[in-house]
Amino acid sequence: MAFFKRVKQPLIPKIKLSGVSKSFGSKNVLSGVDLEIFPGESVVIIGGSGTGKSVTLKCILGLLTPDAGRVEIDGVDLAAASTVQAETLRAQIGMLFQSGALFDSLNVWENVAFSLLQNQKMSRRQAREIALQKLAQVGLSAEAAEVYPADLSGGMKKRVGLARAIATNPNVIFFDEPTTGLDPIMSDVINDLIVSTVKTLGATALTITHDMSSARKIADRIAMLYQGKIIWTGTVKELDKTDNPYVRQFVAGSAEGPIQMDLKA
Ligand SMILES: Nc1ncnc2c1ncn2[C@@H]1O[C@H](COP(=O)(O)OP(=O)(O)OP(=O)(O)O)[C@@H](O)[C@H]1O
Ligand SMILES: [Mg+2]
Repeated sequence: MAFFKRVKQPLIPKIKLSGVSKSFGSKNVLSGVDLEIFPGESVVIIGGSGTGKSVTLKCILGLLTPDAGRVEIDGVDLAAASTVQAETLRAQIGMLFQSGALFDSLNVWENVAFSLLQNQKMSRRQAREIALQKLAQVGLSAEAAEVYPADLSGGMKKRVGLARAIATNPNVIFFDEPTTGLDPIMSDVINDLIVSTVKTLGATALTITHDMSSARKIADRIAMLYQGKIIWTGTVKELDKTDNPYVRQFVAGSAEGPIQMDLKA
């Protein structure tokens, strides 16, 4: 009988950042970010305002180009890939922008269906149907579908942005501050939605949040960004046990500790 030795394949991270650095003028924002996110994992990045959390996401999305370091999706270095290959890899990512980034000239359902109409060339009828379904998932009715962004509350904009992020059933979803500006109940609805989306789609999620209750609910793993680097990663359980003074201060929301707010800027 043949005897096969099982060779364990190393798991390729869905997203891998190695030594990613980014400055704007003389301001170093990222100075060597290392982070691996594995398929199906939900990772949450925490960190103070202006520490470069959104910049990190934009470097992965290709909206900003890192000055140094590598960004890999499915093991492919995006800088070394062809434009088409990099676009195909990035097309797996659905994104909820911090600001919502809705198109003012499109109504709610057209915003949600944007990628279905533009990239997938779906019929308006079919795209509208999917948009209404996604809107219902974030608690918005068919009436809201015809409204224009200028007439939406901040919380509604956030929900429309979220419906758009999940419209194409993406493999990877980035949520930049998904609960900021929402009331506590809607925040919890959104947290549950993130958890269920990640589970049902089997998606990989990368979320940025200041909201520790949200982080606790949605994270398999938490990573803390401070002074341009990921200084700590761990599970929610480990978060509560860590003696890392930076993490402890952030989680406690305390003004006292090693993290000094830069109030000069
Ligand atoms: N395109 C840009 N040009 C110049 N500076 C930028 C640009 N984008 C970001 N920055 C600067 O980089 C720093 C980090 O910004 P970033 O938006 O990533 O912060 P953040 O961690 O997401 O903060 P917040 O929690 O407030 O959203 C800030 O000082 C910001 O002003
Ligand atoms: Mg931000």
